[in-house]
Amino acid sequence: MSHSFHTVFPVADLPPGASKAVQIDGHNILVGNSAGEFFAVQNRCTHQDSPLEGGRIRNGLIACPLHGVMFDVKTGCGRGQMGRVPLRTYALQVSDGQIQVSVDAPVAA
Ligand code: FES
Repeated sequence: MSHSFHTVFPVADLPPGASKAVQIDGHNILVGNSAGEFFAVQNRCTHQDSPLEGGRIRNGLIACPLHGVMFDVKTGCGRGQMGRVPLRTYALQVSDGQIQVSVDAPVAA
């Protein structure tokens, strides 16, 4: 089965520490830049379903703006009791300076 990657925005639009929400096939996804590494995770905190957009990104973690639970941007794993349900993560690639995200491709470990 071939997986479809959707172009979301140019790399230049997402400097380190920035994140932007995007909708792909009904998935609400947050694409971000953690110190030069791009990531894509569900844009809903698993604690109380609040958007993660705007959360501070530092040391490979994004902090939920609502109660501050931190999630690993690569694995989706949360920290602490309130973060026990991991975020879904999405496969991401960069091609010709464009960030591309797939909702059906397996996420590289
Ligand atoms: S809703 Fe994200 S930490 Fe509570």
